[in-house]
Amino acid sequence: MLPAWRDGYYRARIESVRVFTKQSVELLLVPEKGWPTHKSGQHLALTLNINGRLVTRVFTIASSAEQLEAQNTLRLLIRTQDKGALTAHLSKLTRGEWVNISKPQGTFLLPRTEQPVVMLAGGSGITPFIAMLHSIPKGDTRPITLLYYAKKNAHWLNTELAQLQVSLPGFEYRLLERDKDGDAVKALSPYTGKKWLVCGPEGLHKQVAQLAEQTNTPLASEHFSATPRVDLSTERAEFTVTYNGKQFMIDNQHTLLAHLKAKQQEVNAGCGMGICHQCKCVKKRGVVRDTRTGELSDNTEQLIQLCVSQVVSDVELVK
Ligand code: FES
Repeated sequence: MLPAWRDGYYRARIESVRVFTKQSVELLLVPEKGWPTHKSGQHLALTLNINGRLVTRVFTIASSAEQLEAQNTLRLLIRTQDKGALTAHLSKLTRGEWVNISKPQGTFLLPRTEQPVVMLAGGSGITPFIAMLHSIPKGDTRPITLLYYAKKNAHWLNTELAQLQVSLPGFEYRLLERDKDGDAVKALSPYTGKKWLVCGPEGLHKQVAQLAEQTNTPLASEHFSATPRVDLSTERAEFTVTYNGKQFMIDNQHTLLAHLKAKQQEVNAGCGMGICHQCKCVKKRGVVRDTRTGELSDNTEQLIQLCVSQVVSDVELVK
């Protein structure tokens, strides 16, 4: 059955679902006509209707625009979790079913420069890099090194990486395990001064960002996390939030979404990181801060996203 039309979303048909390694699913999707073609490294929000509830999560597209053009498919490689609100349902999807996807988003792209690039991937953070590598024409000699961390025997796409090393003479890769090979600082140290791209868990990003700053190395990174991207105010303060007529005291250290969920209020939410817009809510009055940019709202009525908003004054909200 076709999913309902949703503002800002597109439909995509499931072409195949494959469990490609333990706890990991490959989805091939055929997007509807008019879906704006992505650039390798971008992500999208995927929405499933699970028992009547729309659940959204964000995933990097693990295939290139060239694959979309040639085969009309998009590939998602997703680590599943037994209790994941969305990922636990992926392996039950079947060919021909429809889902919603957002337009492609994100600025984590392969630099145009011919300078040497070092890609550092942690776990499922390999996905933007595999899309980028597939977007490079065969025979291209630009120097690219991939350092890929995963647990023992848990590296994805080994065969594909070996094939890419043959078709791209400038490409080399190393499969690393933290216990055996040491941490990212050790792996990256020989490559200071080159352009670094990083995708993986939060801890990896922090470590690499620190090293990049110390060594004056250019760094671009991508990570999906509900963690605000600007520092929270260290000075804790409390404010009154009125939500659908009910009043609560909340502090300025967490997002409005986190507070309302903790107060067991009915809220719509999906990605938790400002992408899907499911948590949109009308702010009647009060000032909030966008946790991604640090920008303050004005005091008037406007639509805000609860998952990326923190209070800076008393606020009144209506769902
Ligand atoms: S939950 Fe997706 S934008 Fe807020």
